[in-house]
Amino acid sequence: MSIERFIHDLPKCELHVHIEGTLEPELKFKLAARNGIALPFADPKAMRASYAFHDLPSFLALYYGGMEVLLKEPDFYDLTMAYLARAHAQNVRYAEIFFDPQAHTARGVSFDTVIRGLRRAQTDAENRLGVHSQLILCFLRDWSAEFAMATLLESLPYKQWIVGVGLDSDEKNNPPAKFAKVFARAREEGYLLTMHCDVNQEDSVAHIWDCVNLIGVDRIDHGCNALEDAVLCRVLAERKLCLTVCPISNAFVTDGPQTDVVGKMMDLGMRVTINSDDPAYFGGYIEENLALVQSKLGLGREGLATLSRNAFEAAWLPRAVKDGYLAMVDDCLARA
Ligand code: HPA
Ligand code: ZN
Repeated sequence: MSIERFIHDLPKCELHVHIEGTLEPELKFKLAARNGIALPFADPKAMRASYAFHDLPSFLALYYGGMEVLLKEPDFYDLTMAYLARAHAQNVRYAEIFFDPQAHTARGVSFDTVIRGLRRAQTDAENRLGVHSQLILCFLRDWSAEFAMATLLESLPYKQWIVGVGLDSDEKNNPPAKFAKVFARAREEGYLLTMHCDVNQEDSVAHIWDCVNLIGVDRIDHGCNALEDAVLCRVLAERKLCLTVCPISNAFVTDGPQTDVVGKMMDLGMRVTINSDDPAYFGGYIEENLALVQSKLGLGREGLATLSRNAFEAAWLPRAVKDGYLAMVDDCLARA
């Protein structure tokens, strides 16, 4: 079996994907037509060709602009169903999906509309395709802590549909400490916690330390700069804190895909995983991200299986369910 075939067949777990970042131009056009919105491009190809970003803020401007076609419950359903179908086609068995409710409620779309569309697609994808997924509510860190707290309170009636909370958007001048109270309350409510520590931000290493010591996160999104601090790496490895690295995304918004970072983290026994982040914008889903890491690091089947196992181990699932997925990885390796 070729290594490409093995990457495809490997049972996968995706832990870092923003549902709004899976909105492909073709679906944008379909939703825009349905909602009577005019788009300033002739067709999806022209829209895709216009995508230009070189750092996190320039990407985020495009990402938020793209959401304007998402207005009604079926829009959120179609978005989520499209992602889960693509994930299924790449042998993703389980995904933890970020959503950004404030990017919608701030435009007048209700929290209820957003989450009902997402949830209905998750249920249908589970029944029809066998892909299981859970939701992580992300707060937008460039808005106020008060808005985040209000959003947390708004989420509580839907708590059984949400496994945890995260923090995304522009990290500059928006450190973890700004949201300490919100995350403490989220913890009290039973949510698991993660936060973005984007690559090469001001005070990246200090922010990762704050995630660990001040917030007490269960996971870190990106977190590549941890490698600058040997003590931090040891703490992350000892505590088995998962880092969700997104190489193709990093190649667009930082100085490279950070695949060397992935290799070093693996060598240090850190729980690193490979993910797609915003695949409709960066042009690669999980399989393409794994293929990039494999080619840059020359990973064999064992190394690839380790990355997949890391993700299932870090999944916010009961032990017995994780063990079922890990057995599937073992099976795939045995058959290869
Ligand atoms: N970082 C910060 N905010 C984001 C990201 C990301 O990787 N993707 C979508 N919003
Ligand atoms: Zn992200």
